[in-house]
Amino acid sequence: MIKHLRSAADLDAPTATLILDTAGEMAALAGREVKKLPTLRGRTVVNLFYEDSTRTRISFEAAAKRLSADVINFSAKGSSVSKGESLKDTALTLQAMGADAVVIRHPASGAPHRLAQWVDGSVVNAGDGTHEHPTQALLDAYTMRSRLGRLDGLKVAIVGDVLHSRVARSNVLLLTTLGAQVTLVGPPTLIPLNVAAALSPKTKVSYDLDSVLPDMDVVMMLRVQTERMQDSYFPSAREYSRRYGLDLARMRKLPEHAIVMHPGPMNRGMEITPEVADSSRSTIVEQVANGVSARMAVLYLLLGGKA
Ligand code: ASP
Ligand code: CP
Repeated sequence: MIKHLRSAADLDAPTATLILDTAGEMAALAGREVKKLPTLRGRTVVNLFYEDSTRTRISFEAAAKRLSADVINFSAKGSSVSKGESLKDTALTLQAMGADAVVIRHPASGAPHRLAQWVDGSVVNAGDGTHEHPTQALLDAYTMRSRLGRLDGLKVAIVGDVLHSRVARSNVLLLTTLGAQVTLVGPPTLIPLNVAAALSPKTKVSYDLDSVLPDMDVVMMLRVQTERMQDSYFPSAREYSRRYGLDLARMRKLPEHAIVMHPGPMNRGMEITPEVADSSRSTIVEQVANGVSARMAVLYLLLGGKA
């Protein structure tokens, strides 16, 4: 088993499949009256969040607690980071407290890689800048596999603000490793062609959502990340929605069995309409629940558990 999960590229197909299978076993636990396993008793997991989060932070905390680990939640807001303390000094402080695993979300791409050089425990990337979000890709792959029964040969469209999306990057890497065919869809200003090619030469690119939908098993909508935009990448929000938003009329172009995903948080009415987000084809709430199982599997396996 690998020691750190910094990028979806850390996962080869057998390791990724082992994590997804283990997540399945963890999910079975959620239906039991007592949801806890004693597996990580006496181990310490630190959640180190330098950027806002709802789903990832809460689900890593729930995952570690369900495995009986001691959990320390650190959020940069309200800490000595505001007094100018560096990531390295913060890492050394955590090290002194004996962290077995550090889960980090940070605005700088590459922060988990640096952190892994400073701490002895496992490092898990919970989102670094516009770079990667590998546990999101794992929970997404788990959701696709449990809804559609397979990943190999699956056709997945990832739609919208690819340029600023660490979710897209990690999904391209993981899904390609597991045999899915990914098509990136969005305005040309938000799809870096060199990035698509560098991540996986097998990734396709399209600027026309309507023509892509009838052939897809999965459509994954991305949030338009205005907080990361310094320039204007499209004429207006209305124009963006008209061309790349998923509404009911567009959703009907998908095959009967296809599912609609979104990592959250959503801009309802921009990349996805409320009717689509709340429809029976949407797996958005299921993705959150699966996030706990997938993160339990990651912590369990990285910290030395067997399948
Ligand atoms: N929550 C995801 C992330 O942190 C996606 C998003 O924010 O749009 O990358
Ligand atoms: N999907 C996701 O990472 O959500 P949060 O930013 O709320 O953690």
